[in-house]
Amino acid sequence: MTLLADQWAGNPKHFWMRGERPEHPVWRDESTDIWHVYGYPEALEVLNDTEVYSSQTARRFAPEGGEEFAEGNLFQLDPPEHRELRKLAAHAFTPRVVADLEPRVAEITHELIDQLQGRDRFDLVADLAYPLPITVISELLGVPAGDYPLFKQWVDDMMAANGRFDLSDDPEKQAQDARAQLEASDRITEYLLEHAGERRKRGRDDLLTRFVEAEVDGQRLTDQQIAKIGNLLLVAGHTTTAMLLANSVLCLDAFPDQQAKVRADRSLVPTAFEEVHRFMTPVSAVYRATSTDTELAGKRIPAERMVMVWCAAANRDDRQFTDPNNFDVTRDPNPHIGFGRGIHFCLGAPLARLEGRVALDIVFDRYPVLGLDPQAPPTFIPSHDLISVRDLPVAVG
Ligand code: HEM
Repeated sequence: MTLLADQWAGNPKHFWMRGERPEHPVWRDESTDIWHVYGYPEALEVLNDTEVYSSQTARRFAPEGGEEFAEGNLFQLDPPEHRELRKLAAHAFTPRVVADLEPRVAEITHELIDQLQGRDRFDLVADLAYPLPITVISELLGVPAGDYPLFKQWVDDMMAANGRFDLSDDPEKQAQDARAQLEASDRITEYLLEHAGERRKRGRDDLLTRFVEAEVDGQRLTDQQIAKIGNLLLVAGHTTTAMLLANSVLCLDAFPDQQAKVRADRSLVPTAFEEVHRFMTPVSAVYRATSTDTELAGKRIPAERMVMVWCAAANRDDRQFTDPNNFDVTRDPNPHIGFGRGIHFCLGAPLARLEGRVALDIVFDRYPVLGLDPQAPPTFIPSHDLISVRDLPVAVG
């Protein structure tokens, strides 16, 4: 089975996955009053202008609990609050911290593959793509390994509620999904709050301790802030990476000539990973709210409107990318916006890139043959804004 444009089995609204272009780079859905941005220059215009396009969407639009959801949540903050919190978080989560992780990422990948010894079929998501990043981020934070099943369940609950949440649903259903998301998120925060308190008493060599000690311009993080950042890193840092790893295998299976090229020249692994991110962008949209009346691509958008920036569609814009529907592992430069752009650019991008590079390289080493299981097609995540698979049965040799 291959995943070619005309066989796209995910959400039919994701027209770019079929190689189609939008009629206009900016479109208003009259039924929901949501503005959709599909074009690349228009997406950059939105993401680079935090005065007009605010990240405080939950406070404005969430049916209930929006205020609570937004509190201390980097994704939901505008300057100047965003600047301060991001500086503190970035201070502890440095490129050095990430680079030092490389041997451990390789070790975990090998351990996971060792557990599959003797099997010629397995689920790439459940057996590798999902456990790898969650183990890495948990160890990095300093969460005890024995507790993984506990918070994996909370994270799964949260992601499931997040996947069900759709702004075009009726308000009651939206409120129900938002509540479920918040409850699961609260459990993670409470759990991390306990750990942050312990690190304040007795430091260790982990990220929670670094957050406790982080100081920028004489300012320190509170336990509540640390727990919220830890929560963000846990949640934002593993499902996304798992999705991108799975998408890598899907794309390389769909384009065997490109897989052969990367296998023959491993220096192409990083550009291949970026191309997967452009071609099959897992976090396909990010959200903003207009603070004032504005104009975008000739359309007047009033204040207080929800704007969905479809990074995945922008990544196929032929005004920016030559042959955008061509999957090319040598594409370089590749200024895709799969990690966002501007002040909210993904804080974990260096970690995701490291995990992707190391894992793909090891998978190629250990499996000379890797393809989708012809007897068990993958299931796509039934989401309006995520593009990836729930499971990915593969056959290896
Ligand atoms: C922000 C995607 C991995 C932590 C973002 C944004 C995107 C994104 C699109 C921008 C959101 C916006 O503009 O509203 C991804 C993808 C990943 C990934 C596709 C994997 C392939 C990670 C990892 C971590 C992480 C591994 C941490 C361990 C964050 C945080 C932010 C963020 C904290 C918020 C930054 C801010 O608002 O200043 N990510 N991410 N992400 N990401 Fe990632």
